[in-house]
Amino acid sequence: MCTQSVFRLTSRNGFNGLQAFNEPIPTIDKHEVLLRVRRVALNYRDVAIATSTYPLPVKNQVIPCSDMAGDITQVGDLVNGFAVGGRVVAPLNPKFLYGPFKDSSETFGGPIDGMLREYIALPPHILVKLPKSSHSFAQWAAMVCTSSTAWNAFYGNMPLKPGDTVLILGTGGVSLTALIFAKAAGATTIITSSSDKKLEYVKTTFGADYTINYKMHPNWAAEVNRITACQGADHIIEVAYGGIVSLTSFLTSVTQDKMPDLTMSTIIKACVVRGVMGGSKQQLEEAVKFMGSHDLQVPLDKSFGFNRDEIIAALEYVASGEHLGKVCINLDWDLLGAGDQL
Ligand SMILES: NC(=O)c1ccc[n+]([C@@H]2O[C@H](COP(=O)([O-])OP(=O)(O)OC[C@H]3O[C@@H](n4cnc5c(N)ncnc54)[C@H](OP(=O)(O)O)[C@@H]3O)[C@@H](O)[C@H]2O)c1
Repeated sequence: MCTQSVFRLTSRNGFNGLQAFNEPIPTIDKHEVLLRVRRVALNYRDVAIATSTYPLPVKNQVIPCSDMAGDITQVGDLVNGFAVGGRVVAPLNPKFLYGPFKDSSETFGGPIDGMLREYIALPPHILVKLPKSSHSFAQWAAMVCTSSTAWNAFYGNMPLKPGDTVLILGTGGVSLTALIFAKAAGATTIITSSSDKKLEYVKTTFGADYTINYKMHPNWAAEVNRITACQGADHIIEVAYGGIVSLTSFLTSVTQDKMPDLTMSTIIKACVVRGVMGGSKQQLEEAVKFMGSHDLQVPLDKSFGFNRDEIIAALEYVASGEHLGKVCINLDWDLLGAGDQL
């Protein structure tokens, strides 16, 4: 029997619960394809799941991580349109293919097993084919969650328009991806961070128009009002005042009694406050097409190896908040091309 290395969280009170297992390589049925996972990208969610701070249910002994890019090694007899060697990514949730979000019970690496393994069998209708482009497997893996989420925030409701002002909180994966999309759409961007070094980076690398250090300016909303001559922003990724507020994060946990009065704020500002739970396969597909044709990449920070010590070091690095760009796990297959090293 052919086996593969699979990582599971045997407990969820820290990264030490991550353990390696030898498990069978799945046998595909006639409607499935078998994927070789080339790169896995980490999200803050993977840290939260491993430390039991994630607010949604998680499967026992789950295989963590939702984001991977891989290639097809076997195709089921009744599958059309996919061939061995095809490069693909999968969305966050195999049931969230298009339209409004309905069901969080099947998100990879949480309620169902995720991508931290060598092989996975999937139905092809959920997969997004990768275009010919300069992107490496790591660059495609890095965009799965952040780009479908940011695409959903900008285009899933009232679409972002050229000339809009976009306020982005923080410089994490979702925030940097939102910055890349907002700049590409011709928006004016304001981004906050706790670090001047990170703010300098987003200015020089991605052309962020305005930056605010939220440690130096705890009342950063007042700074936004100053920058926008009291007009506020049209789109906000996370929280604050203005046109469309896309709530994605649970980084700051405040008790219900300390939450802002959303009802009154929403009425007074006449704004749309919208929760975002990742993005659909359709939104991922649109983001892949846009990034492929415009040669846009989510920045990669560091790459770690596919063994327990390295994966724990990678999770610790994401937990530290020092990263600026995505953190990837490299499965180091023999057939790697020169562009796939990071
Ligand atoms: N709802 C969804 O669909 C969805 C999808 C993806 C992610 N998320 C959530 O979004 C959050 C970010 O995820 P990620 O993967 O982008 O994380 P990440 O790459 O680890 O980035 C986290 C970043 O958040 C910023 N931050 C932390 N506390 C902050 C605060 N009080 N105010 C403003 N910014 C703050 C930090 O920016 P600085 O270091 O610059 O200060 C940090 O770099 C997580 O809670 C994650 O679970 C939600």
